[in-house]
Amino acid sequence: MTQLIFSRRVPDQLAPNRITIARQRCAGNFIDLTVSNPTECRFDYPPDLLPPLAEPAGLSYRPDPLGLVWAREAVSALSGELGAPVDPAHIVLTASTSEAYTFLFKLLCDPGDAVLVPTPSYPLFEHLARLEGVRALPYALCEEGGWSLDLDEFSTAPPEVKAVVIVHPNNPTGSLVREEDAAALESLCATRGWALIADEVFYSFPLETASIPRSFARCESTLTFTLGGLSKLAALPQLKLAWIITSGPPPARRAALEKLEFIADTFLSVATPVQHALPSLLQHGARVRDQIRHRCRHNLAELRRLLALLPAVSVPAVEGGWSAVVRVPSLGSEEDLILSLLEQFGVAVQPGYFFEFPRDGYLVVSLLPTIDEFSLGAQRLAAGLGTWLGAG
Ligand SMILES: Cc1ncc(COP(=O)(O)O)c(C=O)c1O
Repeated sequence: MTQLIFSRRVPDQLAPNRITIARQRCAGNFIDLTVSNPTECRFDYPPDLLPPLAEPAGLSYRPDPLGLVWAREAVSALSGELGAPVDPAHIVLTASTSEAYTFLFKLLCDPGDAVLVPTPSYPLFEHLARLEGVRALPYALCEEGGWSLDLDEFSTAPPEVKAVVIVHPNNPTGSLVREEDAAALESLCATRGWALIADEVFYSFPLETASIPRSFARCESTLTFTLGGLSKLAALPQLKLAWIITSGPPPARRAALEKLEFIADTFLSVATPVQHALPSLLQHGARVRDQIRHRCRHNLAELRRLLALLPAVSVPAVEGGWSAVVRVPSLGSEEDLILSLLEQFGVAVQPGYFFEFPRDGYLVVSLLPTIDEFSLGAQRLAAGLGTWLGAG
């Protein structure tokens, strides 16, 4: 019956996996180093953050499909601070980065077309593409080069490919795209006629990097869509506002914006009050951003300190973002290790396979928990890994 009625865009198998079931069984009796929701991590949100949402201007409904100019000007000012001043007319507001992806897949792909997505990376690409009738074709980042781009990966791309997705810095590897790789990718996209979709939701969270390569929002040589949003930048995922910055050769950029306006007009999905409040949210959100940067740096140092006692375990450099990868020798199934850490040592971390790492032996740790909680979780992780390695 199910197969007769429902589309293949939604997976058939939606049952919880072994880890989810084990977490339910543990009923919260563990330190959660998988948390990615900043509103659950006890940051001090300034009291002046929310009042602008109640401004009377929010009572009037005069939608602009691309987003209210006032809000787009705020994004433009922000992108200026990040080193890439952008004309507000080149910005499109959406309700989330996820929605931005769906708009871009509608814009660029017919059903059956494909987009190239990095691995290891954010696991939602597969679903976002599939829900639009689009295939997400993985390309591998090169671990030896610090999860860098390898352009040879693109040489066998089929003709249905319409775009390349890049995450800068990548989640969860924390790797930034180097200037020379960015330039090479831009020129490849221009040659092959592919659009470039650059996810920069973590761009404002540098960790272990001497310099931050430029934002893709400055790319002019090929049609480029650079994504950002309040969910990470101001740690406000519940307010539902993100943006697409469109750049590239003017004729392509103009055509893309005209069509994006049509798509956005069909939904008009961004609420008016949050658009009016955006300048203030971006200004006051900077205080939460600073706390997150500070906490991530602190927790990363603590993780390194505790895991240094285990020579077989390493924590590769994290150039930016909210998570760290822990590399462990693969002595058995990653899932068994995760379950043992959870059930015997009381700490939850993500398995690497969740992010499509190339093999077993990668754990992903969120750097967002409070300093005390993180320290306790990392101690349990070190104890659990010590036992696992001793037994292996
Ligand atoms: C790389 C990346 N892009 C996008 C998102 C989602 O952003 P939004 O909440 O704006 O949909 C996430 C969330 O973790 C992410 O890791």
